[in-house]
Amino acid sequence: MTGIKATGERKLMLFSGRGHRELAEDVAGRLGTGVTPAELKDFANGEIYARYEESVRGCDAFVLQAHTAPINHRIMEQLIMVDALKRASAERITVVAPFFGYARQDKKHRGREPVSARLMADLFTAAGADRLMVVDLHTAQIQGFFDGPVDHLHAMPLLADHVARLVGSSELTIVAPDAGRVRVAERWTDRAGCALAIIHKRRDPSRPSEISVQDVVGEIAGRTCVIVDDMIDTGGTIVRAAEALAARGAAEIIAAATHGVFSGDAAERLAASAVSRLIITDTLPLPPGFHFDDLTVLSISPLVARAIREVFTDGSVTTLFEGES
Ligand code: R5P
Repeated sequence: MTGIKATGERKLMLFSGRGHRELAEDVAGRLGTGVTPAELKDFANGEIYARYEESVRGCDAFVLQAHTAPINHRIMEQLIMVDALKRASAERITVVAPFFGYARQDKKHRGREPVSARLMADLFTAAGADRLMVVDLHTAQIQGFFDGPVDHLHAMPLLADHVARLVGSSELTIVAPDAGRVRVAERWTDRAGCALAIIHKRRDPSRPSEISVQDVVGEIAGRTCVIVDDMIDTGGTIVRAAEALAARGAAEIIAAATHGVFSGDAAERLAASAVSRLIITDTLPLPPGFHFDDLTVLSISPLVARAIREVFTDGSVTTLFEGES
């Protein structure tokens, strides 16, 4: 039997999809439990089957899944796992999605577009989720799309403490690569006591992967610049930002992001860029074969495990909200 019993009959059980088993094992180890055995498989036509190998009746269930490639399959698997828990009488179900997929489509930029982040929240509600736990949502207001509690955790303190061990604050400039990251960058500079720079980034609405840097505001020349972002996907945002910083005389350029998505040829683009160091967390597994010469992957599992423990014991998750955007 896996799981931890609190006072009374409540039992914490951790479940893992196939997206990032290593992270789930790490979180389970920190909680002093195991990942509950489950049968997860694909039928020949791609449909997913899930069944737990022990009773989940009355448990406080935490279902961890990485929304990683193939992302729609991984999300569907988590939905099916939640449905199976609901139908097997789990008492409370928390969806743990350290990287919450579709968060970038959080509003209609143009007519006839979806609001996919809202749809995601509705899907998890329909499946039976009572609570969401996420790390660095693309925008904090997505919390309002879900009617239950959302534990929105932040990786900034983890990233900032790591950078502080590498670079002194007097030579450091934290760079927001677009308007969406200004709040996080401000909180980082407040914490580190260093300078802030802001990039004015634009995307062509009809070609969203095309990025151009319009301007940079802040002290760059001769400084170690850390570009901070929620995610690196194709690498376009970071590469363009790094070009702009290099053109303005930055001494060194570091990229720090919570989620390393690294789609397509991101590795090649980053390797050919002015970025010398890459710092991410392990909310997502690295894509097979991904390589960057100076890559640091920080573990998010202590934060996630602590948050799960606080939720389970009715403690305070607010104490983990330092760095909230
Ligand atoms: C955009 O607003 C996000 O915060 C990221 O900057 C963006 O999604 C990163 O994607 P890419 O690496 O493809 O530029």
